Amino acid sequence: MRLPHHYMPKFLINGGKRLTGEITVAGFKNAVLPILSATLLTKRECVISNVPRILDVDNFLKILLGLGARVARRGNSVKISCAGVKKFTPEKKLVSSMRASVLLLGALLGRTGKAKLVYPGGDIIGTRPIDVHLRGFAALGASASVGADISVAAKKLQGAELFGESSVTGTENLILAAVLASGRSRIKLAAQEPHIGLLCRFLNKMGARISGIDTHTITIDGVARLHGARIRVIPDMIEAGTFAILGAATKSHFVIKGVEHGHLDAVYNKLWEMGVNFEKQGNNLIINRPTGDYRGATVRTGLYPNLATDLQPPFGVLATQARGKTIIHDWVFEGRLGYLPELKKMGANVKLIDSHRAEIIGPTKLRGGTIRGLDIRSGMTFLIAALVAKGKSVIDEIHHIDRGYERIDERLRALGAGIERVN
Ligand code: EPU
Repeated sequence: MRLPHHYMPKFLINGGKRLTGEITVAGFKNAVLPILSATLLTKRECVISNVPRILDVDNFLKILLGLGARVARRGNSVKISCAGVKKFTPEKKLVSSMRASVLLLGALLGRTGKAKLVYPGGDIIGTRPIDVHLRGFAALGASASVGADISVAAKKLQGAELFGESSVTGTENLILAAVLASGRSRIKLAAQEPHIGLLCRFLNKMGARISGIDTHTITIDGVARLHGARIRVIPDMIEAGTFAILGAATKSHFVIKGVEHGHLDAVYNKLWEMGVNFEKQGNNLIINRPTGDYRGATVRTGLYPNLATDLQPPFGVLATQARGKTIIHDWVFEGRLGYLPELKKMGANVKLIDSHRAEIIGPTKLRGGTIRGLDIRSGMTFLIAALVAKGKSVIDEIHHIDRGYERIDERLRALGAGIERVN
């Protein structure tokens, strides 16, 4: 059958059911993408395991292939050799499909001495400037020009004092550019997310000399070359937190497997404060049926180890099921409350205060509806809301969800969720 060209896959949801069973957390999207970038820094083979099968990874691997890399993917393992990479202009369409492509700047600068790419795309959740990245490259001796394209170039990179200004990809980009620079670099005000630590550990396995890992001051002693290495991607803390909220909001009882509890302090603290009934058991997180009403709370995002902004929208759904007032305060991005007008249409009692803050009063019953995913996390948030709501919902633009969550329909169906993908 020929499909009309506006045709897009959707999720049909039949909500209001309690979920049960087990779901395993996949590898972390925001950890694997910097590691894929780092493979550009060596001509030797690298092997990465626990790689999630998501659209952003597919597209990042296509970018590497386009630059001349060899890529072999088997299950959740990827073997990459960047020996043949000579190009420094990654393909525009792919670059503009995700934010993480900004990491090609630091990696290609280290590898080829130059990079040219269109402005990276990704979620429209704020202005998302890259001044931190560019100031750092300049301090390392690179010149940069920004127009429709971003170009960076350096004859030689020289270690320097750098500032990460708590930007996640900013810190990662400076690490990628500094490992092959000559001399010592020190990144102050570095962001401290666990995936930044993983990137540093991977680079050290490749022969880099990075210390101060997992702190706000990272020291890098430049080396002349890097060799191949293997790494296993850490479990996705955002996915783990999202599944926990899904379980709580649908008042279900299920087990989330493969959880790194140490990355979830802020999530557990907020779930506990809101009255969610959960327990840790080995690497599992068990979500139990609630023993009473959930309670409203102040949900404020911040820099790791504070609550991740990526989990703010799912917490918004939980707030609709909690008694009393919840204040949502997304301190990190000024455009991440776009999901709330949609939740309002589904029956939530929401008042937007300003671009960073909103008030939600609960509990309210949610109604099914037709909702369009706006970005990865809001798409997943609508999915949770639709599973809470009694009756049928349609979620459009699900490529956003596929960018960050592996086979989410199959995995949720295994928990008994009413979810079908229609093509
Ligand atoms: N900022 C600047 N200047 C910069 C860079 C950032 O002012 O040069 C500001 C931003 O405007 C924002 C804050 O600093 O207010 C934090 O932004 P950051 O740079 O840390 O975000 P990012 O690196 O662009 C990554 C994740 C996001 C996640 C944020 C915050 C990747 C590929 N993306 O983005 O993930 O929300 O950190 O934790 O790692 C997602 O996965 O859905 C996602 C959006």
